[in-house]
Amino acid sequence: MTAASNNLEHIETASQDELMNLQFERLKWSLNHAYSNVEMYRRKFDAANVHPDDLKSLQDLRHFPYTTKEDLRQVYPFNAFAVPMEQVVRVHASSGTTGKPTVVGYTQNDVDMWANVMARSIRAAGGRARDIVHVAFGYGLFTGGLGAHYGAEKLGCTVIPMSGGMTERQVQLIADFKPDIIMVTPSYCLNLADEFERQGIDARTSSLRVGMFGAEPWTNAMRQEIEERMGIDAVDLYGLSEVIGPGVAQECIESKDGPTIWEDHFFPEVVDPETGDPKADGEEGELLFTSLTKEAMPIIRYRTRDLTRLLPGTSRTMRRMEKITGRSDDMMIIRGVNVFPSQIEEHILKVAELSPHYQLELTREGNLDALTVNIEMKSDTTDASQTEQACSSLQNLIKSYIGISINIQAMDSGSIPRSQGKAQRVVDKRNII
Ligand code: DLL
Repeated sequence: MTAASNNLEHIETASQDELMNLQFERLKWSLNHAYSNVEMYRRKFDAANVHPDDLKSLQDLRHFPYTTKEDLRQVYPFNAFAVPMEQVVRVHASSGTTGKPTVVGYTQNDVDMWANVMARSIRAAGGRARDIVHVAFGYGLFTGGLGAHYGAEKLGCTVIPMSGGMTERQVQLIADFKPDIIMVTPSYCLNLADEFERQGIDARTSSLRVGMFGAEPWTNAMRQEIEERMGIDAVDLYGLSEVIGPGVAQECIESKDGPTIWEDHFFPEVVDPETGDPKADGEEGELLFTSLTKEAMPIIRYRTRDLTRLLPGTSRTMRRMEKITGRSDDMMIIRGVNVFPSQIEEHILKVAELSPHYQLELTREGNLDALTVNIEMKSDTTDASQTEQACSSLQNLIKSYIGISINIQAMDSGSIPRSQGKAQRVVDKRNII
C-alpha cells in the first residue's frame, strides 16, 4: 500500500519482529553505505575500531561513534554526501544561530521517501486525500515548507503553499480557500489567532479541522490554548534537517500521546546527554537518530540535543517519543536550578490574564544568572492592579513548582517580537556589557 491512500501502510501495524528484522537489514546497509562512501564516517569508525560487519544485532549500534553538528560543520558544504553530486537533486540547510549552516542533500529516492513519511504523518494527523492543506512553514532552505508540501501532494491533498509571513493575508486566504489542515509553527499560529481576532473573525468558525505543529518546542498547555482558540485538533509534528526534515515522527490524532517515530526509516536511541551512555526505553535523555534508508546523506547516531524518552507504540507498532521538553542547549541554570523555557510556558498559560506571547531574558546579577519573563497581558487586561496580581501569580507558581525567583516585566499587547517561523524564546544578555 503506498502513502497515496487513506489506508495505513503495512509496516505501520506490522509485528514488532517484522519491524525489527527490517530495521536490522536496513541498518546494515546504511552503516556500510556510510562507511564505504563518506570519508568522515570511515575515519570515525576506524578510530573507534568498529566496522559495519561488527553489527550482529540492533543493540550493536551502540558501539558505533556519534555524529555531532560540529562534525557536519567540518565537512561543509557537501563532504557528508555519499553519492556523486549529479545524483543529488535537492539541498536544504539549517541556519543555526552561530557559524556555518548545516547542509543536507537528497537523491530522488530520498525526496520520495520523505514525501512518503510526510504523507504518512498527515494521515496520522487525520488528513485524507482531497483535504486542502495550508502550509505556513517557511519555503526555501528551511525544510519545513517543501517537506510538508511534497507530503501533502503525495497523500492526494490540495496544497496552498503560503509560507510564513503576510499574516493578514494568511487569515484572509484561510477564510476564502477554506483549508481543512494547517501546518505551522505553534508560535506563528498564535499570531494568526490574534489576527483573526483583530479582523473580528471568530477563528473557531473557520474551516480548519486539524493543525500540525512543529519546528520548535511547545507544551501541552500551549496545545490546549491553541485548540480552544482555533477550534481544531492540534497534533505534534517532529523532525530535523540532518535526519530528513519534518516527518521523522508524528503524533496520531486518535491518541495524542506524543509523536510516533517512523522507525522503519529513522532508528532512535536515547543516551545520557553528559556521558553518552545508552538509556533504556522510558528513561529520559538526548535523542539520537540513525538513518536506515537515506542515500545522499546517511546519518549515523546523530546527536539531536533534543531531550525526551522513548515510549512503547500505541496507535502504531512503532515507538513514540514523549513531547520534547527542551533542547540541552536551551537549558538555563538559575541559581543552580535547571530550567527549560517550556516549564515557564506551562505556568504562563495557567494565568488567565496573561497572553501566550513571552520572551525570557537572561542577565547577570553579580555572580548569579537572573531570569526575567517579558510577558504581554491579554488585550482586555488593562487594569493596573489586575496586571500586578497576574504577575505575582506567575511569580508564585514558578517559585513553588520550579523553585526559582524570577523577575517579571509586564508588556503592552504587541510589544514582544512576533515570529513568522521559529520563535526566539530566550534572549541572552549575560555577555553584553
Ligand atoms: O525544524 C524541521 C521541521 C519543520 C519539523 C517543520 C517540524 C515541522 P530544523 O530547522 O533542522 O528542522 O530544526 C530541528 O527543531 O532538533 C528540535 O529541536 C526542533 N523541533 C522540530 N520539531 C519539533 C517539535 C525542522 N515538534 C529542531 N517539538 C529539532 C519540539 C521540535 N521541537
